[in-house]
Amino acid sequence: MSDNMAAIRRIELIPSTQASEVAVLAAQCHQFPMSLTSIEGCFGRFYSVSGLYEGHSLVGFYILHTLFEDATIIDICISPDKQGLGCGKMLLNAACTEAKGLGAERLLLEVRQSNDSAIGLYTQRGFIKTATREGYYPCDNGRENAVIMELQLDNKKAP
Ligand SMILES: CC(C)(COP(=O)(O)OP(=O)(O)OC[C@H]1O[C@@H](n2cnc3c(N)ncnc32)[C@H](O)[C@@H]1OP(=O)(O)O)[C@@H](O)C(=O)NCCC(=O)NCCS
Repeated sequence: MSDNMAAIRRIELIPSTQASEVAVLAAQCHQFPMSLTSIEGCFGRFYSVSGLYEGHSLVGFYILHTLFEDATIIDICISPDKQGLGCGKMLLNAACTEAKGLGAERLLLEVRQSNDSAIGLYTQRGFIKTATREGYYPCDNGRENAVIMELQLDNKKAP
């Protein structure tokens, strides 16, 4: 990608009218994606859905759920043809900033144990593994473990 194109990447809230675009991108990125109905449910209270755009093209998104001290990344995706270019890092940083700005004290997520690129991204950003959920996800040959990861957001209120 040219520097010009990188320079015009921007992150902004996705309106609920574009839920189907989010679902299409999720289906390109995951073997077992969230359904359109589930994604539409993420445009409600306590959620935000933010997109990474290049010009008018949606090339990535994250869904954040924030409730009091806990924020959770429900999903984060970069279009397959844009992966490995720093876009995931850009979106994850935005999710961390948003969660902190909303007053959350920690950011949580769960990820397939086999998802090396996502675990690499989260680890590089400072997330640590806190637990494993046995057989949480469906996969080709049965079930796969989920790894729970968390990042402290340095937002704790003084006692
Ligand atoms: C996971 C995902 C969001 C990463 O986005 P990306 O744009 O490819 O990631 P970036 O280019 O910003 O890479 C950021 C860091 O992630 C890690 N990373 C990326 N690809 C990796 C790989 N194949 N193996 C290990 N670590 C990897 C590295 O630490 C990398 O930093 P570096 O380039 O300085 O080494 C993207 O691969 C994706 O959309 N995957 C499909 C959907 C998905 O699995 N989402 C996670 C749901 S929990």
